[in-house]
Amino acid sequence: MADPKKLFIKTYGCQMNVYDSERMAEALGASGYVTTERAEDADMILLNTCHIREKAAEKVYSELGRFKPLKAANPDLKIGVAGCVAQAEGEEIMRRQPLVDLVVGPQTYHRLPAMEAAVRQGARAVDTDFPEEDKFEHLPKGPRARRAPAAFLTVQEGCDKFCAFCVVPYTRGAEVSRPVDRVLREAEDLVERGVREITLLGQNVNAYHGEGPGGTWGLARLIRRLAKIEGLARIRFTTSHPNDMEDDLIAAHGDEPKLMPYLHLPVQSGSDRILKAMARKHTAESYIRLIERLRAARPDLLLSGDFIVGFPGETDQDFEDTLALVREVGYGQAYSFKYSARPGTPAAEKTPVPDDVASERLHRLQALLTEQQRAAQDAMVGREVSVLFEKAGRLPGQMVGKSDYLHAVHVTDPRAELGQIAKVRIVASGPNSLAGELV
Ligand code: 5AD
Ligand code: SF4
Repeated sequence: MADPKKLFIKTYGCQMNVYDSERMAEALGASGYVTTERAEDADMILLNTCHIREKAAEKVYSELGRFKPLKAANPDLKIGVAGCVAQAEGEEIMRRQPLVDLVVGPQTYHRLPAMEAAVRQGARAVDTDFPEEDKFEHLPKGPRARRAPAAFLTVQEGCDKFCAFCVVPYTRGAEVSRPVDRVLREAEDLVERGVREITLLGQNVNAYHGEGPGGTWGLARLIRRLAKIEGLARIRFTTSHPNDMEDDLIAAHGDEPKLMPYLHLPVQSGSDRILKAMARKHTAESYIRLIERLRAARPDLLLSGDFIVGFPGETDQDFEDTLALVREVGYGQAYSFKYSARPGTPAAEKTPVPDDVASERLHRLQALLTEQQRAAQDAMVGREVSVLFEKAGRLPGQMVGKSDYLHAVHVTDPRAELGQIAKVRIVASGPNSLAGELV
């Protein structure tokens, strides 16, 4: 038998891209590819790209340039661009970087095997359709190998919210939910392959409305059904919009033990003026009330968020309002970004805030968020948490896992096993992780 061809995939952007990269590797697995960690060994290089901010998109072109010597050394090497930059720029990518053989968007990667065959014949292939068919149903299945203990599962894709800054509705398309039975089938398969924790993914995951027995199911109902799968111990979901946080989902945080006490709920800004300009359709006040309800259901809920500073028109006072919201809510961790104008979005037409002003604000916001993150971590010291061990650590006998609150936890103990969920007492808090001991 011929040696298998080697596939190198590099993933940028969100967790959904991580999930998609795994599916692409499976799809090309059916064409005889195995994955490699080394681009130099590859017969096919795929960049699974992100278009969310300008920097993310530009990285793709600098990375592609670096593959030039590899292609010179191996004329059979094929290079593909997948993901959201592929969707947004399509054929333009090949014009800008002639090294590229293949461009495939996030909704058509089930067609990769055919595209791969075409490029092997010397063709160039571009597919950025939004097809009628469901890609998940048309993906060739890879080998049913054992999986790492924590897995992602896409249940919803796309977005109809059209926040004024965001490319997602254009790159991922309209909001679509996968039917309940397909989600269940995939979850059961993951659990059979050793998965103990599933993170349900969607650009707007709490707007999930999949067809199921008896009609349309919301996310809370889906989570409650998934919780019945024996062997599945933990459920998470990301990422959510405040306006889709329905009563039953709030309640599930209090009464569904498998739903972990961690929630990523982006607010973007604490200024009502800016929230309006962003077309977020909620206020700072309504967000804070929502957090109160969530905390009433689950008092120890650890909150995460996303923030944008320097949105067009943002004044010093608007920014102070954001800091005030952060102080009031108290985040366990959060992501913050400088606004980046994205072509085709409504906000891109507006006059930007000077870059030095935006940088200074970002710096101040990040200082506050880091302080809160450290405080939340330090508060774990002395507490008992449950940890799912996901991989071996660097030290002998060390395991690294995640607590219920999604903190990375190191435990050095020969009894700690991969895939085990153990009670751990936290003994120390470092910059980005906690150290603990088995109880
Ligand atoms: N500029 C900066 N940040 C952005 N985000 C989305 N679009 C932009 C943009 N144009 C951030 C938001 C979102 C996260 C995924 O990325 O905070 O929640
Ligand atoms: Fe980036 Fe958004 Fe695409 Fe994810 S969906 S890769 S965050 S542009």
